[in-house]
Amino acid sequence: MKIIIKSAREIALIKKAGSILADTFDYLKVHTKAGISTHELDRLAESFIRSHGGIPSCKGYEGFPGAICISVNDTLLHGIPSKKIILKDGDIVSYDICVTYEGYIADACRTFPVGEVSENAKRLIDVTKLCFFEGVKLVKPGVHLGDISHKIHEIATSHGYTLTEDYGGHGVGREMHEDPIILNNGEIGTGPILKEGMVVAIEPMVNEGKVELYTLDDGWTVKTLDGKLSCHYENTIAITKNGYEILTLEKGEQN
Ligand code: MF3
Ligand code: CO
Repeated sequence: MKIIIKSAREIALIKKAGSILADTFDYLKVHTKAGISTHELDRLAESFIRSHGGIPSCKGYEGFPGAICISVNDTLLHGIPSKKIILKDGDIVSYDICVTYEGYIADACRTFPVGEVSENAKRLIDVTKLCFFEGVKLVKPGVHLGDISHKIHEIATSHGYTLTEDYGGHGVGREMHEDPIILNNGEIGTGPILKEGMVVAIEPMVNEGKVELYTLDDGWTVKTLDGKLSCHYENTIAITKNGYEILTLEKGEQN
């Protein structure tokens, strides 16, 4: 395993990619309405990212056909944008986006409600976000990654939810996926020790029901086996001298 330490200049570039990414969430949020297809949302995202000087890094990544991943309801990850998938009231939709700026990548995901959603769906969205923020609070140099994974797992399971161990967070920089892997469960005091200059994406993926998943024949779309909702929240963060900085937050959100 090789965890790359980034310079201040490199972190500034990832932050710029992250600000384009965060603005894309704000833009997509406005368009997240019943009747729009995920293909149309993908087109909007791509043109927004490019017109702000970024590149949608997912496009063509290992052959992925979309500019971003759009995953509705029981789709946990890697939903392929489609003219056939039309949002309807009560859905939840996640936008998992990577933006490259001058060779550096930021990675983040948000899950939004479409119109009025059930109390269960709202709670799932809130708890998934909480998993990230409770986990990230522990981040500072000298801390083991396992502590963060453990906290994410504790928050989700204490609400009766499950988290996959098949996918997780990762280092990010020149490559979309760098070391280390960050699972959403772990033992306190285990795993790599965080150091100033590391940049990682932390991404709780939380299932309302059982943990089992399956992948569609398209080779990408990952769904819950029981058909219940799943939710995803992710930010790219830099480890700083005394803590961390979140590089992909929308303007109204707290760092
Ligand atoms: N953004 C995803 C992640 O968190 C990866 C997307 S896979 C791609 O790692 F093929 F769509 F790029
Ligand atoms: Co990621």
